[in-house]
Amino acid sequence: METRYLVYLSRLVDPMGPGAVAGIIRESRGNNAIRGLTGALMFDGERFCQYLEGPADEIMRTFTAIQHDARHAAIELLASGSARERRFASWSMAYVYAVTPTLIDEIGGGGIRGVADAFASALVHCDGDL
Ligand SMILES: Cc1cc2nc3c(=O)[nH]c(=O)nc-3n(C[C@H](O)[C@H](O)[C@H](O)COP(=O)(O)O)c2cc1C
Repeated sequence: METRYLVYLSRLVDPMGPGAVAGIIRESRGNNAIRGLTGALMFDGERFCQYLEGPADEIMRTFTAIQHDARHAAIELLASGSARERRFASWSMAYVYAVTPTLIDEIGGGGIRGVADAFASALVHCDGDL
């Protein structure tokens, strides 16, 4: 089955506070495991960058829900397309806290290969939910 992927940037809505992120991760991992989605979510205290991959219909459905989620705003789609294989097959949603303040900026400025590679290298520093 064809794998689709997408990457977007967004900004945590102010009153939420970073504590909201744990809830988002928990919810995402539960849903994604059921829906055949995998990927990685990066957060730097203010902004998210998410790489989501899986079957086209599930990607569409979930990204529509994500776009309507009031916990974040200023959603900017960076890239989307199809891929021969998954980059994050072992993670229903890996979480990366971007300790380097510029990491998300670099992702925003790079192409899709740069995005996937930046996530993959950052995952060395986090626990997969295998
Ligand atoms: C930054 C961010 C990332 C999210 N990532 C996912 C995700 O990967 N998978 C998911 O199912 N929901 C994700 N959500 C939550 C969705 O916006 C939405 O609440 C959820 O998909 C609705 O699930 P339901 O179909 O059980 O009602 C994310 C929300 C935010 C704010």
